[in-house]
Amino acid sequence: MDKETLMLTVAVLGGTGKEGKGLAYRWAKAGYKVLIGSRSSEKAVTAAGEIMELLDGTGSVVGMNNLEAAQQANIVVLTVPYAAHRDTLESVKEAVKGKLFIDVTVPLVPPKVSKVQMPPAGSAAQEAKEILGEGVEVVAAFQNISHEHLLGEGDVECDVLVTGSSKDARHEALKLVEAAGLVGWDAGPIENSVVVEGLTSVLIYINKQYGSTHSGIQVTGVSKK
Ligand SMILES: NC(=O)c1ccc[n+]([C@@H]2O[C@H](COP(=O)([O-])OP(=O)(O)OC[C@H]3O[C@@H](n4cnc5c(N)ncnc54)[C@H](OP(=O)(O)O)[C@@H]3O)[C@@H](O)[C@H]2O)c1
Repeated sequence: MDKETLMLTVAVLGGTGKEGKGLAYRWAKAGYKVLIGSRSSEKAVTAAGEIMELLDGTGSVVGMNNLEAAQQANIVVLTVPYAAHRDTLESVKEAVKGKLFIDVTVPLVPPKVSKVQMPPAGSAAQEAKEILGEGVEVVAAFQNISHEHLLGEGDVECDVLVTGSSKDARHEALKLVEAAGLVGWDAGPIENSVVVEGLTSVLIYINKQYGSTHSGIQVTGVSKK
């Protein structure tokens, strides 16, 4: 692990859930200091303990409430259902100023989760940018990665399309994609997150049609330098 990674602390807000816990596990395994955020610090401590067990006690995963996690981290990742998106963002707005913010939220509207239904801002990530304001770089990533892959060790047959408010922010987020053992692509400005978030509903539809739980996408026709 390089010195830069050693110094980085990643908060996963809603990290007690399916997607957040899987990402937290992978980052802790890669050497990041990980903070699990929750509405309940007790629930966060339990989730952090479960991840530490999976890691045989080798990583650093600590549980606390969402605000404390956001305050203590360099990078803040949001993994909550869309219904909790705005309230969670409002609750950590001051704590994330000057930090990299990675939004994993898909704006699903139950019960029709296999139909693309984007919010007025365009996408969840654009809505996050509106709420968090200037001074926060917002990146959208991991929306197409099923949590079912994340606690396993095998190769994940789904790439991560990374969109965001600046090239530097996307570059930083791509390091976390790689640390999670996934293949990531700089997929352009935050406006492009509309397509990536919407693609999740398409994948959910395909899962239902063809009896899968983890369909994915891969970029072809281009190789990494
Ligand atoms: N699951 C997947 O495979 C997957 C894949 C790609 C993207 N995503 C996206 O990632 C996000 C999280 O998905 P998930 O499956 O991990 O969700 P989840 O397990 O249902 O929920 C994640 C966490 O969000 C918090 N939460 C739940 N309801 C809330 C509410 N009403 N208000 C405030 N906080 C609430 C809970 O944390 P506390 O109770 O600890 O606060 C919960 O543990 C979603 O936007 C989803 O679309 C999921």
